[in-house]
Amino acid sequence: MSRLVVVSNRVGPVRETAKAGGLAVAIVDALRTDGGVWFGWSGDISPEGTHGPVKREEAGRISLLTIDIDQAAYDTHYAGFCNRTLWPIFHYRLDLAHFDRELERGYWNVNNRFATRLFPLLEDDDVIWVHDYHFLALGSKLRTMGANQPIGFFLHIPFPVPEVFTALPNHEALARAMLAYDVVGFQTRRDANAFIRFFVEEYGAQVTEDGLLTVQGRTIKVGAFPIGIDTDTFRQFSLSPEANRQGKRLKTLPGDRCYVIGVDRIDYTKGLVERFRAFSKLLENYPENRNHVSLIQVAPTSRDELDAYIEIRQELEQITGNVNGRFSDLDWTPIRLTTRPLRRRSLAGLYRACRVGLVTPVRDGMNLVAKEYVAAQSEVDPGVLVLSRFAGAAESLDAAIIVNPYDVEDTAEGIQRAVIMPLDERRDRWRQLFSKVQGEDIEAWYSNFLGALRATARKAA
Ligand code: G6P
Repeated sequence: MSRLVVVSNRVGPVRETAKAGGLAVAIVDALRTDGGVWFGWSGDISPEGTHGPVKREEAGRISLLTIDIDQAAYDTHYAGFCNRTLWPIFHYRLDLAHFDRELERGYWNVNNRFATRLFPLLEDDDVIWVHDYHFLALGSKLRTMGANQPIGFFLHIPFPVPEVFTALPNHEALARAMLAYDVVGFQTRRDANAFIRFFVEEYGAQVTEDGLLTVQGRTIKVGAFPIGIDTDTFRQFSLSPEANRQGKRLKTLPGDRCYVIGVDRIDYTKGLVERFRAFSKLLENYPENRNHVSLIQVAPTSRDELDAYIEIRQELEQITGNVNGRFSDLDWTPIRLTTRPLRRRSLAGLYRACRVGLVTPVRDGMNLVAKEYVAAQSEVDPGVLVLSRFAGAAESLDAAIIVNPYDVEDTAEGIQRAVIMPLDERRDRWRQLFSKVQGEDIEAWYSNFLGALRATARKAA
């Protein structure tokens, strides 16, 4: 079997830590089975930057190879074009996007530099899998250097419709660079269709029913590969002693309590402000929930040097204060907001102890919290998932209560339905959701993607 080389901006952690995001957890799972190389940014900023040594760390069968970047690269790539331009545009927030040629140049430079450092590490029969919006153009640089191994790309975030994507200055160059990949994968059918539609409308591309896109002399495979979780392991986590301890912590709080849980990085895409307003509306419209229902929001921070993130955090703290000031009682707090990240076993325990899982992003690639919440429920007394129609997960998890996060009344009503839902209906919905989560798990994700990528290699041979 050929060696797998994974490229992503963040590399690791391989062992469980509180900070691991969805992408890192998924890649570890994909690499753990067959082993391979994981290449990307060390997380360090140094004066030599991408010209410094390749750092090596072995973790079982996974070799972690990383390089530093320098401050200018960090500012223009990660904190610049990636998170101030691409991230907002791909999440449909043109109003928050910064357009700046210098950031754009930094983006291409970092893509080129990472490709240049990776190239000599490659072996002839490697299969290369590049991840996410930080490296849209890395494959095309590898090709110009002479790499002819199969190279696939997977986008973890949404791909916007052409009407939005074309607002990005020089979007043509980025889109054309993506044609260097043999397989381009998206979280949902909707994202894959948006990408295809761009090439059909702007370049007259031809598409076959099984997703072969032919344009500008290239034929590539485009498809939806919905990411999932390691369902069995996460379910086990929810039964661990650490999970039990977390669940018990909630039970020791006074009164007959019903908990609603949200777990999201603090980000304007997660719909947190809208969610807190909806929760406030719930207490206003259905007063029987006062002194009874609490929202626990776990919200670790990231990218906290960027203005948009500083602002959203302040807004959240303010609205939490307002809601708590308005409704709290001596022994009851409506919203508990904590930015402290939790280990995955603790999270699983919290999910299991909470009657409602609230996942209401205004835009999200997939959202693995939705899947983890389902996996962690007891089959005898399961909780209810309330899910935004704008999360990629809603494409398959339609047995959840689906809400429109912009509509505060609708979300409040969705939470209310979840809080009072009879046991039979909860069990019925949970069974449907759990079978979807099991069917579209992490193994299906990487084996489908790598199957498609290896198939292109065989065809070329
Ligand atoms: C999203 C992206 C990932 C990213 C993660 C955390 O899930 O798809 O690529 O790693 O957010 O964001 P950060 O900027 O902290 O890496």
